[in-house]
Amino acid sequence: MEKLIIRGGKPLNGDVFISGMKNSALPVIFGTIAAGDVCTIGNIPDVSDIALAFDILRSMGAKVRFINTDTVIIDTTNVMRKSPPLEYVSKMRASTYILGAMLGRFKEAQVGYPGGCDFGTRPINQHLKGFELLGARVAYGGDGNINVTASEGLKGNFIYFDIASVGSTINVMLAAIFAEGTTVIENAAREPHIVDTASFLNACGADISGAGTSMIRIRGVKKLHGCNYTLAPDMIEAGTYMAAAAATNGNITVRRIIPKHMEAVTVKLREIGLSIDVGDDYITVNSNGAYRGTEIQTNPYPGFPTDMHPQFTAMLCLSNGISKITERVWDGRFKYVDELLKMGADITIDEGSVIINGIKHFKGAAVKASDLRAGASLVIAGLAANGETTVTGIEWIDRGYEALVDKLRMLGADIQRVEY
Ligand code: EPZ
Repeated sequence: MEKLIIRGGKPLNGDVFISGMKNSALPVIFGTIAAGDVCTIGNIPDVSDIALAFDILRSMGAKVRFINTDTVIIDTTNVMRKSPPLEYVSKMRASTYILGAMLGRFKEAQVGYPGGCDFGTRPINQHLKGFELLGARVAYGGDGNINVTASEGLKGNFIYFDIASVGSTINVMLAAIFAEGTTVIENAAREPHIVDTASFLNACGADISGAGTSMIRIRGVKKLHGCNYTLAPDMIEAGTYMAAAAATNGNITVRRIIPKHMEAVTVKLREIGLSIDVGDDYITVNSNGAYRGTEIQTNPYPGFPTDMHPQFTAMLCLSNGISKITERVWDGRFKYVDELLKMGADITIDEGSVIINGIKHFKGAAVKASDLRAGASLVIAGLAANGETTVTGIEWIDRGYEALVDKLRMLGADIQRVEY
């Protein structure tokens, strides 16, 4: 087992280069199943979720080969119609994308019920509703598998999502690319990773328009082919470093990003009094000391991202005012609060919101990550704290942050990863 040891109180300064977006990489990697050919994907982040996705693809008969540190060649010509091992699938929510990709290409799919970060209930009823509206039949096998079949093929349809769900939008898009006729998804999620996935599928010969808006149109095609594609940068990784700059009174430039993706985060940092410089492919956050509290509601894109909620709580604990973050996406996202309280935070949870009273500083403590973004929140608190903080449960952090210790050290952090 490994843990992080952080000696806090040092302002972070300098440039950090952002990796490819994990939440784009996952649907694109599983989307190669639909291509049934050779795809070269660039800007792949080196994080454990991606390694697991490659293991799942290999277990299904795909060939996966890195040609350099962040570019991979995936050949899914001979992917078998078999369900990947349950012990893989149960670790990661994004393995649900296998359902859409297999259903699209093979008109049948079988995947174990997905796992992933535990925020309470994480249903997939909207995914399955979309598949049924395309003409598929859904059955739950006694072995924990979900079986989706469309023996008469898939037919385009009008699909309205009750919730602008990222996973449902992507999964139905993956299934609909081969459906006969046209599919319209209404109330689609608009995240940049939806656009990335649609752009990848179009590069493979799909006919998708409207990705990034709430209405996506997919005209069915007969077959896809391989392509070369480069992923967008990770907006949540970038936002995490921006919050760390604020919390440590530092001056950080996040590079190789798409500033438009960061607007909700940038607006909030400006609102609390930080100076922000936005360039073509970078943003500089300069925190020269005190900043105000604020109110935030998390919402689907382009709203404030739920995946930035825990990191902003850690940062706002050090504001000179009172803040409130209302979580409107995941009802179980608050586990990180107990760990911040161990570090001296003054936070109460009230009906789906955290109320944050500013404190002078965190005290270093032994804390444990319960999910990916909770872990990021504890690292930010440790970087700002007086004294030493140890963070365990860092396998959660490894799922979504490439080379976290190296990148933080380059910014002046006193952080190390040790066995224990
Ligand atoms: C994706 O999860 C991300 N994961 C999550 O990021 C992110 O928090 C989430 O989108 C919201 O932005 C990946 O992309 C791999 P949803 P996903 O379907 O697709 C409800 C991280 O930290 N819902 O948009 O699972 C659901 O309960 C991870 O990188 C249904 O009710 O999220 C939730 O309340 C954590 N029925 C809301 O919709 C469904 O069938 C949003 O879920 C599907 C979803």
